Amino acid sequence: MLNRYVNNMPSRYAIAIRLVTLTAALVLPVAAAKAEPRTLNDAVYTEEQAEAGEELYAENCLTCHDKKYFRPVLKAWDGQPLSILYTVMSTSMPESNPGALPRKDYVDILAYILSLNRYPAGDVELDYSEDVLEGIVITDRE
Ligand code: HEC
Repeated sequence: MLNRYVNNMPSRYAIAIRLVTLTAALVLPVAAAKAEPRTLNDAVYTEEQAEAGEELYAENCLTCHDKKYFRPVLKAWDGQPLSILYTVMSTSMPESNPGALPRKDYVDILAYILSLNRYPAGDVELDYSEDVLEGIVITDRE
């Protein structure tokens, strides 16, 4: 009886291992697909953020950058992560007083810039953490 039990062990493990391998093979491609980065066409900011950003933009940016300024900027940075645009504005702008605004204000301004360029708004706020902004790719509007 004990012998049979012991003899059975390896094959049980083998089945378990095969199951784990099979599950990994099935699950991994799905996980990889999910990890695909979001783009500006995936509703990455909210209307409220863009509205807050409109005022901040008028106060801090409009004197030097008219509302059309960012169209070619976004085009030139096609394929780059949104974090780059955020880093440039939050460390070098406004030119007269670089980095002067709170992070939240820069993110609201970024949301406003996206709305100006008619990217879709959604239910999820644009987050200013580097990780989140790095996972969003600048792309042409669909
Ligand atoms: C006093 C004038 C001035 C103000 C105010 C100002 N900027 Fe700028 N900004 C510039 C200049 C000058 C440049 C570099 C030359 C250019 O590309 O037009 C620039 C460049 C930029 C760039 C880089 C564009 C690129 O193609 O590399 C971004 C992004 C930017 N500004 C965002 C902002 C934002 C957002 C604000 C408001 C928080 C702001 N700027 C306020 C003068 C200003």
